[in-house]
Amino acid sequence: KYEKIWLLFGTGTLLVFLIVVGISAFYMGNQPPSCAVTLDPQKVDETPPFDKPGLKQIGDNEYQLDIVASAFDYDVGAEDKLVRIPKGATVHFNATTKDVVHGFQLVGTNVNMMLEPGYVSTYSNTFDKPGKYTLLCNEYCGVGHHMMAATIEVT
Ligand code: CUA
Repeated sequence: KYEKIWLLFGTGTLLVFLIVVGISAFYMGNQPPSCAVTLDPQKVDETPPFDKPGLKQIGDNEYQLDIVASAFDYDVGAEDKLVRIPKGATVHFNATTKDVVHGFQLVGTNVNMMLEPGYVSTYSNTFDKPGKYTLLCNEYCGVGHHMMAATIEVT
């Protein structure tokens, strides 16, 4: 008799758990808050601000950095893939991808995003420590995955 009660209790707990996991995965995974802006991935090159990727000063030591990812490259508006910013600068990263899903991880900072075709991912970071920060792709995207990189130098 007691066994039945325990079995029922166990099954009920499992069901509640599954429902909670299901609901949170649906709401949070469906639409990450950083991906609210949408665009046509085929027209990234013609869509501002991604028609001119790179660093733009928008305030007092405040910048917007527009980046276009594609297999297997980050277009940061510089041939040498190097972006220089002064110490203490706040950078609003604004990134998208032209083709497949790419990662966007700036080693040593909290900047860690997923770039999805058709979405703009944004994240802001203030660079108080001088140094070189490597931007790399942490989502496997093909044979050149490991070559996707750029550098942000804070001086
Ligand atoms: Cu892009 Cu891995």
